[in-house]
Amino acid sequence: MNDTFLRACRGEPTPFTPVWLMRQAGRYLPAYQAVRGTTDFLTLCKTPELAVEVTLQPVDILGVDAAILFSDILIPLEPMGVGLAFHEGRGPVLDPPVRTEDQVRSLRGIDPERDVPFVLETIRRLRRELAGRVPLIGFSGAPFTLATYLVEGGTSRGFLHTKRMMFEAPEVFEELMRRITDVTVAYLRAQAAAGAQAIQVFDTWAGILSPGDYRAHALPHARRVMEALADTGVPRIYFVHDGGHLLEDIRTAGADVVGLDWRTDISAALQRLGADAVVQGNLDPCALFLPEDRLRERVRGILEEGRRARGHVFNLGHGVLPEIPPEKAKLVVDLVHELSA
Ligand code: CP3
Repeated sequence: MNDTFLRACRGEPTPFTPVWLMRQAGRYLPAYQAVRGTTDFLTLCKTPELAVEVTLQPVDILGVDAAILFSDILIPLEPMGVGLAFHEGRGPVLDPPVRTEDQVRSLRGIDPERDVPFVLETIRRLRRELAGRVPLIGFSGAPFTLATYLVEGGTSRGFLHTKRMMFEAPEVFEELMRRITDVTVAYLRAQAAAGAQAIQVFDTWAGILSPGDYRAHALPHARRVMEALADTGVPRIYFVHDGGHLLEDIRTAGADVVGLDWRTDISAALQRLGADAVVQGNLDPCALFLPEDRLRERVRGILEEGRRARGHVFNLGHGVLPEIPPEKAKLVVDLVHELSA
């Protein structure tokens, strides 16, 4: 029974600093590739037996202190009425992109038990299989990040269509955000009810916004998600990638834990979040290419900074890269445990 992750999220003392890695299940693991070799990504997400298997791989191979549900942030967008496909090497495609008022008004709400039963079944099976070994994290995209995928039709560079709708038709954008937020709330509450013991909300693209636009168009919806989870009692983690310029505002979203990327040092972030903050992060994913002795010093430095927070969960500042040797990922987990004990 290892509940150090949940204790750290609540700001309680722990015998060592818990660690998990964003995207800890994935292509850098040969065991994942073996499953993916015979199954496409969406089928993997929709088959509980396989999703359970790949969720458990990093727990067994790396010894991380939390499991994260194997799924994708884009999964709940499909039952809203948009086609979803993952093309090898090209990333996700949402078709048709949602750009008009009529399209926004035709987006449907979801009933998670009916529309994404495989996600809830995966969570239930994982809780049985984990049997308390480590806690299980559920997750979703944040409303703004999900909106970018719907409006752009996939990953984007300039986010022209999203920003255009935001500025040209703010009431249409607001309606889009309202519908996505309703779906996200229903989706995350269902995950918590099925047994997710913490929730991470990924705001991968909110960092493209100025502080003023973030406060106007993204933050209120992220805050509504956090508030809607308050009565579930599960710790809420809010990770904004490239959000260093937004930290004061991010703090007001009301999450229990603030996820940090590597561009802001934890000590500098704490000055802006307040020393009573609980933080998660923030090793540069590319630092795993460092030789062992220099990696050790990086990990030690982050742990020292993390001790100034009310609680610290060690993580990378973004997802594990496919190019990372699995032994290096395991080394990071071992170093965190060794140097924080
Ligand atoms: O962290 C985990 O181990 C749990 C699973 C997980 C995946 N995606 C699996 C996945 C989680 C938490 C995500 C979140 C996710 N998905 C985010 C937010 C985090 C971040 O990286 O900023 C975003 C933006 C997505 C959207 C997405 N999914 C993209 C852009 C892509 C294609 C690019 C890529 O990395 O391949 C995906 C595919 C995806 N999601 C894969 C995995 C393991 C690779 C699919 C494959 O096996 O080919």
